[in-house]
Amino acid sequence: MVAFRPVTPSMAEPTAIQTERLILEPAAERHRENLIAFLGDPAVMSVRKLGVLDTSAASQVVNRMIAQWSSHGYGMFAVIERDTGAFLGECGLRAPEQGTIPELSYGLLTAARRKGYAREAATATVEHGFGPLGQPTLVAFARGDNAISRRLLESLGFELVGERPKDGYTVVQYEARARGEG
Ligand SMILES: CC(C)(COP(=O)(O)OP(=O)(O)OC[C@H]1O[C@@H](n2cnc3c(N)ncnc32)[C@H](O)[C@@H]1OP(=O)(O)O)[C@@H](O)C(=O)NCCC(=O)NCCS
Repeated sequence: MVAFRPVTPSMAEPTAIQTERLILEPAAERHRENLIAFLGDPAVMSVRKLGVLDTSAASQVVNRMIAQWSSHGYGMFAVIERDTGAFLGECGLRAPEQGTIPELSYGLLTAARRKGYAREAATATVEHGFGPLGQPTLVAFARGDNAISRRLLESLGFELVGERPKDGYTVVQYEARARGEG
């Protein structure tokens, strides 16, 4: 289990989470430039639901990410490497378009991969969702052919609950429940 602790104790400010090697900072204006470059990077986005975004579309996504922290009290984090302060990618909980179950979502820049960072960030995000946020269930989606993400989700305790075709590929849906829930 990854230990985490609040970095900012204030209730007014969304709280950053610190893990062994990472800081998960609630998406904010200061991350905009990095997030726009990230959301436009085909190495990250070509396998994701949103696809590769141009600057204008990426900026709108960043607006929504920042606004969601105010509207829902949870959201996406900028993933920052503690040792270097480098921006590595994003991880967090997206508010659902329908229903009430938050969606675990993550992606890292190519240079940050294969170091266990996605697992570390996702583990802390899930613990935060089930712990302080009190969510009973989390959902996650992946393309059916995204074997890396699927294996990561399964090792985090997510179970396959459905799949559907979309734009020529399959989308798989996973869910995880807090201990003691169902
Ligand atoms: C999925 C992603 C976040 C994984 O990031 P990562 O930091 O490399 O993952 P980790 O280092 O934490 O590894 C997690 C697991 O995946 C495995 N893994 C990671 N990259 C792999 C690769 N290229 N080939 C095989 N296994 C791989 C690791 O071995 C590890 O498994 P293990 O714990 O059983 O050994 C990253 O590949 C990514 O950003 N991909 C594009 C965006 C994406 O797919 N997002 C999720 C779907 S929306």
